[in-house]
Amino acid sequence: MSATPIIAQKSPFPTDVEAGETYFWCACGRSSKQPFCDGSHRGTDITPVKWEASETKKVFFCGCKSSANAPLCDGRHSKL
Ligand code: FES
Ligand code: FES
Repeated sequence: MSATPIIAQKSPFPTDVEAGETYFWCACGRSSKQPFCDGSHRGTDITPVKWEASETKKVFFCGCKSSANAPLCDGRHSKL
């Protein structure tokens, strides 16, 4: 089954990340562990996006799943 991403929330998820750590961002919007993948994309053709933090800091992961700079928010949630 193919599927389009669903909006988890129309705002980003502020998240503290650690340098060198790898994160799997939920691209499908179905995870209950937002902004990260929990396997709920199974059955769709959407897969999570692997992202490695280059520094320890707070980032804003896209919650609307429409960012052109995924997995990070690019501000377009404000136009949804
Ligand atoms: Fe959304 Fe895995 S649960 S990409
Ligand atoms: Fe998706 Fe901001 S939350 S672009």
